[in-house]
Amino acid sequence: MKHLLKLESMSRGAMEEILASAEAVKAKRGGGETKPLDGQTWAMIFTKSSTRTRVSFEVGIRELGGAVMFLNANDLQLGRGEPIKDTARVLGRMVHGAVIRTYAQADVEEFAEYSGIPTINALTDDEHPCQILTDIFTFQERRGPIRGKVVTYVGDGACNVPVSWVHAAAALDFEFRIAAPAEFQPSAETLAKAGGNISCTEDIRAAVKGADMVYTDVWVSMGMEAEAEERLAKLAGYQINGGLMCLAKPDALVMHCLPAYRGKEIDAETFEAHADTIFTQAENRLHTQKAILAWLAG
Ligand code: CP
Ligand code: NVA
Repeated sequence: MKHLLKLESMSRGAMEEILASAEAVKAKRGGGETKPLDGQTWAMIFTKSSTRTRVSFEVGIRELGGAVMFLNANDLQLGRGEPIKDTARVLGRMVHGAVIRTYAQADVEEFAEYSGIPTINALTDDEHPCQILTDIFTFQERRGPIRGKVVTYVGDGACNVPVSWVHAAAALDFEFRIAAPAEFQPSAETLAKAGGNISCTEDIRAAVKGADMVYTDVWVSMGMEAEAEERLAKLAGYQINGGLMCLAKPDALVMHCLPAYRGKEIDAETFEAHADTIFTQAENRLHTQKAILAWLAG
């Protein structure tokens, strides 16, 4: 039984297979697509907000021939305390796969263990694997193989998005630099587990110098709202803007997983200058996740 739970445990081969198939999936959309989810029903269980992940998975499952039901976790008995392992054993007897967005990584892993159906992590506090596979697909679509390239992440370097990047960089052999205050850098344990060419610094200018891509995410991730004021103050110097981008390669890409907060992690001018890349990145969630669904069903 295959799952997509985290990039930390995903092989280079599996990542490369999904990335290659996403290209074919995108090219074939709307004409001669295969329907690997024909006759299947997938459940999407979300405890956090979502625009891109929800819509791209709902559309993608339908386009692959499947039916999909969106379940707000609070409307399930899960919200009233029914254990995950019981919910998983019930759903596993009725649906063919699950896409889960929640807080604890352990909850998605427990669901996968007890449900006996392919399970996809659609974002937890620890990782956002579907996003980073999409981002790499988007980079390669525009700039060719990511191997040996330099990707710099600016902002909250300890949240789910940069942590998935860390594991992807180690697996796919590119350099990944994080520019963040010390307390917003990934743990030493995460970095040691990943290996690879990863560096963390508080020096944002040094980190961006010569980069092929500069990436950011929100300063206040879902679940961190109580710390919002403190985070905005501490991360204030870690913004992508025109002055910073002068240090990167002249043709450097700017990416953002979205939603974007102008004037915080990125300024409005730089965001709009790179909007075509950023919204192609958002669109590519659909194509890459269809490749993930087909890989799991195969
Ligand atoms: N980037 C991303 O996952 O967006 P949503 O939170 O809107 O799904
Ligand atoms: N780090 C962000 C990603 C949003 C897509 C969060 O967890 O809220």
